[in-house]
Amino acid sequence: MRILLVGGTGTVGKTIAAALKSRHELLIAGRSAGDLRVDLTDEASVRAMYAKAGKLDAVIAATGHTHFGPLTAMTPAQFKTGLLDKVLGQVSLVLLGIPHVADGGSFTLTSGILNRDHIRQGANAAAVDSAIDGFVAAAAIEMPRGIRINAVSPGLLSDAAEAYDGFFPGHAPVSSARVGLAYVKSVEGALTGKVFCVD
Ligand SMILES: NC(=O)c1ccc[n+]([C@@H]2O[C@H](COP(=O)([O-])OP(=O)(O)OC[C@H]3O[C@@H](n4cnc5c(N)ncnc54)[C@H](OP(=O)(O)O)[C@@H]3O)[C@@H](O)[C@H]2O)c1
Repeated sequence: MRILLVGGTGTVGKTIAAALKSRHELLIAGRSAGDLRVDLTDEASVRAMYAKAGKLDAVIAATGHTHFGPLTAMTPAQFKTGLLDKVLGQVSLVLLGIPHVADGGSFTLTSGILNRDHIRQGANAAAVDSAIDGFVAAAAIEMPRGIRINAVSPGLLSDAAEAYDGFFPGHAPVSSARVGLAYVKSVEGALTGKVFCVD
């Protein structure tokens, strides 16, 4: 398959690339590095990326920053950054990408554990992850031409555990190998409208 992986240079993106690259042609896209440059928060940039990418069998998003901070100090503007960067970024990739995906192809988005195993300072991330999970469930019903759409919802990756030290008390980190397999299931499997949780 010809697969566009947006965010392929990040922690989760590298895991996805490692799981898929031996069997597929991967096009890596990112904001500052990759085969294609894109800013998912800029609609024109997303359109330009798809124009360069050509026909695709699968599109994967492993992007999006959310706001981590105490609820009582959180401002609506801070909350909005997570909605724009992670939710609207990934959703734009789908809405603008449908014409570029082949019949029977797929989209795979990335949410995360924080909407089911809550932590302090994680209210924005929880809301954002639920938005993505909700989007794929409903969007699957309306996808044309047999195109599938799923989300992968990983726990804290062992590769990222050090960087988030203290934020996730008691969370068991998940291995890159298991996270990669969830994306393989979404891209190579038959299911649609699902959230593949990796706990
Ligand atoms: N790390 C974890 O343990 C974990 C667990 C569960 C869920 N997640 C979720 O997985 C996703 C990726 O996390 P990560 O830890 O891999 O983050 P990361 O290491 O910061 O990587 C993010 C990747 O996305 C790209 N990117 C960011 N904003 C972008 C934009 N507006 N347009 C295009 N590309 C953009 C980055 O490119 P540049 O570097 O060039 O900006 C980078 O390649 C996030 O949604 C996160 O919430 C992560």
